[in-house]
Amino acid sequence: MNEKIIHINTSKEYDVVIGRNLLGNAGEMIRKAADPRIVAIVSDDNVFALYEPVLKESLTRQGISVEQFVFPHGECSKCISVYEELLEFLCERRLTRSDMVAALGGGVTGDLAGFAAATYQRGINYVQIPTTLLAAVDSSVGGKTAVNLRGGKNQAGCFYQPSLVICDVDTLSTLPEREYKNGCAEVIKYGMIKDEAFLMNLKERDAHEWIDDVIARCVEMKREVVSADEFDTGERMLLNFGHTLGHGVEKCSDFSVSHGFAVAQGMAVITKNAQIKGICAEGTYELLTGILEKYGLPAVIKYDPEDIAKAACVDKKSQGGQISLIIPEAPGKCVIRKIPAAEIIQWAS
Ligand SMILES: NC(=O)c1ccc[n+]([C@@H]2O[C@H](COP(=O)([O-])OP(=O)(O)OC[C@H]3O[C@@H](n4cnc5c(N)ncnc54)[C@H](O)[C@@H]3O)[C@@H](O)[C@H]2O)c1
Ligand SMILES: [Zn+2]
Repeated sequence: MNEKIIHINTSKEYDVVIGRNLLGNAGEMIRKAADPRIVAIVSDDNVFALYEPVLKESLTRQGISVEQFVFPHGECSKCISVYEELLEFLCERRLTRSDMVAALGGGVTGDLAGFAAATYQRGINYVQIPTTLLAAVDSSVGGKTAVNLRGGKNQAGCFYQPSLVICDVDTLSTLPEREYKNGCAEVIKYGMIKDEAFLMNLKERDAHEWIDDVIARCVEMKREVVSADEFDTGERMLLNFGHTLGHGVEKCSDFSVSHGFAVAQGMAVITKNAQIKGICAEGTYELLTGILEKYGLPAVIKYDPEDIAKAACVDKKSQGGQISLIIPEAPGKCVIRKIPAAEIIQWAS
């Protein structure tokens, strides 16, 4: 095995293991990390059919009992009613604090299963096994867990770090093209906020060809950010680059524009305006839009800036009339600026 291990040193420390053919050995890694008696595998129907059998087999080989909770795929399942079903399931199957939840899937599964693990019996161990590029580079690391409320996305949740993250890159081979592109937007985001050389590599070489290293570099950058600011009161906000306007686009499109595509547009439009205002180095916008285009991502917002600004400002990031906006100064360098919410419109067209 040729895997890479990245150690995360948040309040609870854990390893992120990135490599090939890991699912078949997941049981052994899980036993070493937490030694559970039972593992409840949580997965959506798509991912369950593809990858649960291998995971289950590797767990039973270690003498670990397996319970299975499957839910319909999609963001709609990241809700209170599925969360409640999952908690009742854990209770009915008599899991205790020496047992474990395994989140096998994308960000929806990770956020939902993580929040259930965080709250069931005041917190039991869980392992993240990301199967989307977005989950591999972003949601599986850092311990943000949540479900959506009718009033908004991620409105009920908590910080709760996993015991282990197992990223089997082979699982990405079945990912639909659109989901791969969604993940690429977050990958490009990391380059823009923290690492110019990485960004240039994304420009020169197709990420697909060196995807294991791409994921590892993104996880390293996420580690830097979350270990400096685990609870998201400062530097971690950098990860929101492109997201304020992106959320505006998602809302204005009634969520028909998917997350990565919306973030791509948000990053491009913020960068354009930062350049016009003289905050950002000349050529950054052209570099970014060239890379977005290469990865099949859009750079133009088609909605009215006023509607985007309105949608962005009811977002949870707006506090007391101020909004924290992530602004690029150059490729690989972004800063956090507080601006009056009324000024967001100047950044949205
Ligand atoms: N916790 C965090 O820090 C954090 C960060 C970013 C995003 N998120 C959350 O992540 C969610 C989005 O995650 P996502 O984009 O992974 O969505 P997702 O979990 O819904 O997965 C996308 C689709 O891909 C399918 N799929 C997953 N893996 C597959 C595979 N290997 N092969 C074939 N199909 C596969 C799923 O069934 C689903 O239909 C959002 O709810 C967002 O709020 C959380
Ligand atoms: Zn995102």
